Amino acid sequence: MSKIDFLALEDWSPDAVDGLLRLAARVKRGEITGGLERKVLAMVFMDPSLRTRTSFETAMFLHGGHGVVLEPGKGSWPLETEPGAVMDGETVEHIIDAARVLGRYADALGVRSFPRGGDWAVARQDAIVRNFARYCEKPVINLESARRHPCQGLADAMTLREKLGMTEGKRFVLTWAWHPKALPTAVPASAALAAAGLGMEIVIARPPGYELDPEDTASIRRLAQERGGEFVHIIDDPDDALVGADAVYVKSWGSVKLYGRPEEESALRSGLRDWRLTPNRLRSTRGGKGVVMHCLPVRRNVEIDDAVLDGPNSVVVDQAENRLHVQRALLLELIGNAGSSRQVTSAATGDTPT
Ligand code: CP
Repeated sequence: MSKIDFLALEDWSPDAVDGLLRLAARVKRGEITGGLERKVLAMVFMDPSLRTRTSFETAMFLHGGHGVVLEPGKGSWPLETEPGAVMDGETVEHIIDAARVLGRYADALGVRSFPRGGDWAVARQDAIVRNFARYCEKPVINLESARRHPCQGLADAMTLREKLGMTEGKRFVLTWAWHPKALPTAVPASAALAAAGLGMEIVIARPPGYELDPEDTASIRRLAQERGGEFVHIIDDPDDALVGADAVYVKSWGSVKLYGRPEEESALRSGLRDWRLTPNRLRSTRGGKGVVMHCLPVRRNVEIDDAVLDGPNSVVVDQAENRLHVQRALLLELIGNAGSSRQVTSAATGDTPT
C-alpha cells in the first residue's frame, strides 16, 4: 500500500476526516490504549512550538512509541530547502537527503516550516513540507506550513463538535485581530476549512486588505456548500462581525496582497489596533454565549482581552488539549500497529500531490 501523508485537511475526504474525529473521541474517552509500540515519529521543527511539539511527543509516549525532535541549526545541521542549490554557504544538508534518511529511521515524519517572506506566489506552494513528503518514503505530517495547519484544524473541528453538539447550520465567525507581526494564514484557512467541513455557516471578518488567499476562500466556500453549510459573507467591521455567532475564532494574519513587503504591510496594519475581542463585542454573539476559540499562543489584551480569555466563553485550553487527542488518532491511523486502527484512510482521497 502506498503511503498516505497528512499535509492539508482537504487532501482527505470528509468521511476520512470524520473517521479521525470519531477515533479521537474514542481515544479521549480512554477506549484505545497502545498501538504505537516500537514506532518512531521524527519531527523537524524549523520554527518554534509549544503545543505541537509537546502534544506529538506525548501522543507517541502514551501509545508506546517514541518521538524524536530535530531543530535544524540548533543541534542538527542547518537545512537547505532550495531545489538545485549550490550549497557553498551556511546550510550543510539538503532536505532531500534529510527526508530520505529520516524515512529509514522513523515510521512517520512531521515538519514545521513557516513562510519566510519573498513572493507569495512561491510561498503558497508549501514547497518545503511538500518536498519532505516527496522524498520521504514514510507518511509526512504537516506541523504547520505557509498555507495549512491541518492538526490544528482537526482539533478545532473536535472542539466545535464538543462545544456545539450539532454543528450543521451554526454560525462560525473567523475574525481577524491586530498583532504586532504579520502572521501566516495557515491557521485561519485551516480553521475555516474545518468549520466548513462540519456544515457550518461561515463568516469571515477582516479589514480591507486582509483577504485570505482567493483559492483558500474559494475552497472554504465550496466545502461549506458541499457539506450543507453556507458561506455567508465577508465583513469588514469588527463590531458587526460577531452578531449571532455560535463560535468566534480570533486570529491575526498578515496581508497576502502585501506579502514580502513588510513596511507597506506594517503601515496598513498600524491603524487597526481596535480589531480585538472585548467583553462588549462578545455580548453580540448568540445569546452572549458564543464560544471563543484561538489556536494559541495568544497576545493577551492585544488579540483578546483577559476578561474574555479567562471568562466562561473561552474554550482555548480545550482546543489545545484536543490537539493531543486528534494527533493520537492520526498517528494510530497512519502508523498504528495492526488492529489498533486503520479504519479511516481507505476513505482518504489518496496520495498527497507533490
Ligand atoms: N497552535 C500551535 O500550533 O501552537 P504551537 O505553535 O505552540 O505549536
